[in-house]
Amino acid sequence: MKPSFGFTGSAPLAFTDRVVTDSAKQTLELDELELLLEALYRFCDYDLRQYGRRSLLRLIHNVLAEHGLQHISELIPLVAHDQAFRRSVIDRLTVSYSVMFRDPELFKRLKDDVLLYLQSFPRLSIWIAGCAEGEEVYSLAILLSEAGLLERTQLYATDISPKALESARSGVLKRAFDDEVAERYRASGGNKELRDYFSGVDGQLRIDKAILQRIAFERHDLVQQPNHVSAHLILCRNVFIYFDHVLKNRVLDKLGDALMPGGFLAIGVEENISLCNAYNRFDILSRKAGLFRKKLGY
Ligand SMILES: C[S@@+](CC[C@H](N)C(=O)[O-])C[C@H]1O[C@@H](n2cnc3c(N)ncnc32)[C@H](O)[C@@H]1O
Repeated sequence: MKPSFGFTGSAPLAFTDRVVTDSAKQTLELDELELLLEALYRFCDYDLRQYGRRSLLRLIHNVLAEHGLQHISELIPLVAHDQAFRRSVIDRLTVSYSVMFRDPELFKRLKDDVLLYLQSFPRLSIWIAGCAEGEEVYSLAILLSEAGLLERTQLYATDISPKALESARSGVLKRAFDDEVAERYRASGGNKELRDYFSGVDGQLRIDKAILQRIAFERHDLVQQPNHVSAHLILCRNVFIYFDHVLKNRVLDKLGDALMPGGFLAIGVEENISLCNAYNRFDILSRKAGLFRKKLGY
């Protein structure tokens, strides 16, 4: 008689089989993802190889579902040979989503503390890195205008996505105003009618020319390109969230280099940079609002 080892039936074995199969599938999928990222890097110079795997997989699964494909590896020949397809995959992976006055507690802190402090400078330089379609830089420019600082400020708004930049440069809002936008503007400390900063063109809303002309829009890749501005304030919000730990640290260090001594940095409220070495270069002004200040001498 065979020993039973205390249990009968095949349930435990079947469970183990399934675990092994699932984990092998995950490993294979991650390998396929590596190959796809390598292809994107070689064919179009987008280096997403240190972007966080979890969010990349989520986004890639959406692309697969949209095109009725099953495996990530099926995307590789398409990315290699079809330029339009390659573009659309890149657009999906770089997520250019934004809204006006997103996370108003940050804008309120900027208005009440940072802009007040910056009043003493005759010229200001502000960099919005990962500006998407412009809503964030328009929001800040409105507050600068209300603080009487816009005229002496040069705003640099950069992003890796040419498509997002084209939209941002046009000054036209993708999403119409609703009560939530007006509410966020007020919660940010806005003290006028938000609509007064826009005019209607063909049923769309376009930001005032006087605001738009203070902003230089430029393509810039935070991963591969060196800094080209020196800034009193940098906003780089909801961009770190896509990076892995090593890349987060590298980009944070880069932004630290671009800030003037005592300069301010804003990151997204859900982002965490506290485990990065480069974090030592900053003091926390408000963790809740994602606001930091470069230490003197760092
Ligand atoms: C979710 S949006 C955030 C937009 C805005 N900062 C906000 O918080 O509302 C992320 C933006 O980062 C940009 N991005 C991703 N990787 C980048 C990189 N390596 N260099 C510059 N921008 C990048 C994307 O194209 C996208 O427009």
